[in-house]
Amino acid sequence: MAPVVYLFFLFCGLMPLALCVPSIGSQPEQVHISYPGVRGSMVITWTTFNETDSMVEYNLWGGKLFTQTAKGNSAVFVDEGPEMRKMYIHRVTLSDLRSGATYVYHCGSEAGWSDLFFFTALNESTSFSPKFALFGDMGNENPQSLARLQKETQAGMYDVILHIGDFAYDMHEDNGRIGDEFMKQIESIAAYVPYMTCPGNHEWAYNFSHYRSRFTMPGQTENLWYSWNIGSAHVISFSTEVYFYLDYGLDLLFKQYKWLKSDLEEANKPENRAVRPWIITMAHRPMYCSDDDNDDCTKFESYVRLGRNDTKPPAPGLEDLFYQHGVDLELWAHEHTYERLWPVYGYKVYNGSTDEPYVNPKAPVHIITGSAGCREKHDGFIPKPRDWSAFRSTDYGYTRMHLINSTHIYLEQVSDDQSGKVIDSFTLVKDVHGPEAWL
Ligand SMILES: *[C@@H]1O[C@H](CO)[C@@H](O)[C@H](O)[C@H]1NC(C)=O
Ligand SMILES: *[C@@H]1O[C@H](CO)[C@@H](O)[C@H](O)[C@H]1NC(C)=O
Ligand SMILES: *[C@@H]1O[C@H](CO)[C@@H](O)[C@H](O)[C@H]1NC(C)=O
Ligand SMILES: *[C@@H]1O[C@H](CO)[C@@H](O)[C@H](O)[C@H]1NC(C)=O
Ligand SMILES: *[C@@H]1O[C@H](CO)[C@@H](O)[C@H](O)[C@H]1NC(C)=O
Ligand SMILES: *[C@@H]1O[C@H](CO)[C@@H](O)[C@H](O)[C@H]1NC(C)=O
Ligand SMILES: [Fe+2]
Repeated sequence: MAPVVYLFFLFCGLMPLALCVPSIGSQPEQVHISYPGVRGSMVITWTTFNETDSMVEYNLWGGKLFTQTAKGNSAVFVDEGPEMRKMYIHRVTLSDLRSGATYVYHCGSEAGWSDLFFFTALNESTSFSPKFALFGDMGNENPQSLARLQKETQAGMYDVILHIGDFAYDMHEDNGRIGDEFMKQIESIAAYVPYMTCPGNHEWAYNFSHYRSRFTMPGQTENLWYSWNIGSAHVISFSTEVYFYLDYGLDLLFKQYKWLKSDLEEANKPENRAVRPWIITMAHRPMYCSDDDNDDCTKFESYVRLGRNDTKPPAPGLEDLFYQHGVDLELWAHEHTYERLWPVYGYKVYNGSTDEPYVNPKAPVHIITGSAGCREKHDGFIPKPRDWSAFRSTDYGYTRMHLINSTHIYLEQVSDDQSGKVIDSFTLVKDVHGPEAWL
């Protein structure tokens, strides 16, 4: 008897039988998909614990299964906890997908295949009207919104999911097993629609290595900052954490700022903004909030909003940059609450008009949606909201966003505590985009 097998029986003698099934290291798990920002493509990402090939077999929905094969590769990822657990993160890019067509796939290798999943290739038309679910701060424990999101996603209600930072709580815990469990939990969503992310503070461990290694976002920045296009929108994802974890490199903050500036300049070129008039940002820690927890956003001098002057050189904030480049909508999380703001810039409200504040607003609109559910439960609000706060809720839940067309975006907040009731909604209407919209 090989020593490994012998040890296995010794160990299992003391355990209930169900726990004794040895894990098959070549079995794919934690399957999730993302849009790599290239027309007609989708990336499938998964994990194995033994080294295997990386293959996806797929075909159009309704056709003969597995007639097409795509190959990719895997990267070794080692958790830096005491056990130094090692895993293989596989990535395969499917290309030449038909815009708006649904595909059936499985992934793995000749040593083991995943379940069967399906996804719809992004409709590449600029008049496509995608539907999003968005939220932050969803953990392995107490993920209140997950069940409803699973059902709605599999029923085809969403084209894309945006997870605005703070995953698993925390992916590195228990030698990375919490990360594995979380990625398995979200497979029921993330294997069906592109699951797009940004880093949050709970990903801090080992210089964000779990976050950087487990996801596959567009660009070459290990998922830290990137942008992509969908329908009439240009979506920018970035890291607010570069303002807080300076030990990992102040240069990251400046690199990101420089990239944000050039990305916004590019998106604002008249020929680009004409076809993608909406600029939407997503990042974890908000510039504004009326929570009572003393976080960055509760301070007038928020680092994210105004920057830091205790660094050398001083670090620029983001409110001016976004305002100057006519960002329309800013999506945030981190606070375990939902809050909608009136159009705001420099702590001042700039309603479109008193009757219709969101029709041609004169400043960006912010939404904070970090109440998907995690072990840290809810946050609380200060009793008296400031005048830029339009609506607040401490219910668990998530946000739906429908990018209707070049002038209309509809958003609504779903309460999980109230069995899926929509507790807030509004339509952002803009006939003019870009900095000239503020005039
Ligand atoms: C699978 O990985 C485990 C842990 O790294 C290792 O002990 C085992 O030998 C591997 N099995 C095969 C078939 O490579
Ligand atoms: C893509 O979206 C456009 C605009 O809404 C629509 O006309 C077209 O039919 C869609 N394509 C597919 C394959 O669904
Ligand atoms: C942290 O990770 C980023 C991204 O890979 C890298 O640029 C940076 O140098 C790392 N910082 C440290 C201190 O290792
Ligand atoms: C530096 O920033 C702090 C708060 O972030 C502010 O109170 C202070 O006035 C600033 N100092 C200078 C010299 O700008
Ligand atoms: C903005 O509009 C809302 C809704 O009409 C109103 O309650 C609020 O007072 C307005 N704020 C300002 C500063 O005009
Ligand atoms: C966008 O959709 C809204 C709501 O359906 C409609 O009223 C508006 O005319 C549309 N705008 C354009 C430019 O098609
Ligand atoms: Fe957070």
